[in-house]
Amino acid sequence: MAVGERERDPVTGQYTTGHDWNGIKELDNRVPRPILFFLIATALFSIVYWVLMPAWPIGVTYTKGLLGIDQRQTVEKAVEEAAAARRAAWAEDIAKLDFAEIRERPELMQIVRESGSTLFGDNCAVCHGLDGSGNPGFPSLADHAWLWGGDPEIVAETLRIGINSTHPETRFAQMPAFGRDGILDRPSISSIVSFIRNNAEGIEDLGPLDTKGVEEGARLFAENCAACHGEDGRGDPAMGVPNLMDDSWLTGSDRESLIRTISEGRQGHMPHWEDRLSELDRKILTLYVTEIINGKPEAER
Ligand code: HEC
Ligand code: HEC
Repeated sequence: MAVGERERDPVTGQYTTGHDWNGIKELDNRVPRPILFFLIATALFSIVYWVLMPAWPIGVTYTKGLLGIDQRQTVEKAVEEAAAARRAAWAEDIAKLDFAEIRERPELMQIVRESGSTLFGDNCAVCHGLDGSGNPGFPSLADHAWLWGGDPEIVAETLRIGINSTHPETRFAQMPAFGRDGILDRPSISSIVSFIRNNAEGIEDLGPLDTKGVEEGARLFAENCAACHGEDGRGDPAMGVPNLMDDSWLTGSDRESLIRTISEGRQGHMPHWEDRLSELDRKILTLYVTEIINGKPEAER
């Protein structure tokens, strides 16, 4: 056979490929059309797929695809929907029952514990501390000393409108600045502090007792402070005025803190949550504060 001339198979009349494997030759058949078609179709499909779907890794990310379909998101969405369905069931109960009724339902209190912990961590812990035990200037919600009262109805209202907040119905309370405004001079304030520290619970580092100062302090207290803090100094939750005779303090019971508060006054700001948390979330938080944070027996606090 001449070079360049292709060999034909004598039986079928087809060209062979020209290779010879120990006498076995191969016909040079065309690729059958259906297979060719299938190959082209799959190649086109993969190109279209790359464009539409997440496909190629590029460093730390990947091509996201025009359709924006993501299996991880799809799964997350399904999980979320399932959680929402479960939530809807107990949410309805919590919304329609009153505080006392919810307290009697352990399965709802379990939801309060879990959901409330997240809500508290997200919204309240920055000021009141993760465990609700407070920070200087931010009251403890874990003790039994309340500015406004610890009944769930009162706490729910405090959450709704805040204290000294921008809400039109806000609770309002202000400790006047007796020193700065020139109502009391420094020695008078010092005497009042001696009187308070001498009578308040749990203050041990009293130092030398200044009997005259304490007596003078008692007189000045009755004159200047009793109108708000009460004759006995035990406060008035109806006006958000703290008890000065217990061992719970917004800033501290040391002389310096007390002198500063009486000289410069105080006005704590508790934000209102009416338009930032749903009524349901506020109800859960109210129960979380009154039952879980504040509900522990004295010994466990
Ligand atoms: C920006 C800081 C801040 C955040 C956030 C905050 N609080 Fe307060 N909260 C305060 C301050 C300050 C007071 C005390 C106001 C005062 O001194 O008159 C207060 C008071 C309260 C009181 C009244 C306590 C009493 O003794 O009567 C409750 C109840 C309360 N907060 C609950 C919450 C809850 C629940 C959240 C979360 C939704 C929250 N707070 C978020 C600052 C904050
Ligand atoms: C107009 C009412 C009013 C009068 C009068 C008043 N207080 Fe107060 N006092 C308050 C309020 C309200 C607070 C809480 C302020 C806050 O945290 O927002 C407070 C807080 C305090 C605190 C801080 C308590 C703590 O837990 O740290 C001290 C101390 C105090 N007052 C002492 C006095 C003394 C002493 C006088 C008299 C010289 C006096 N107050 C007069 C309303 C009053």
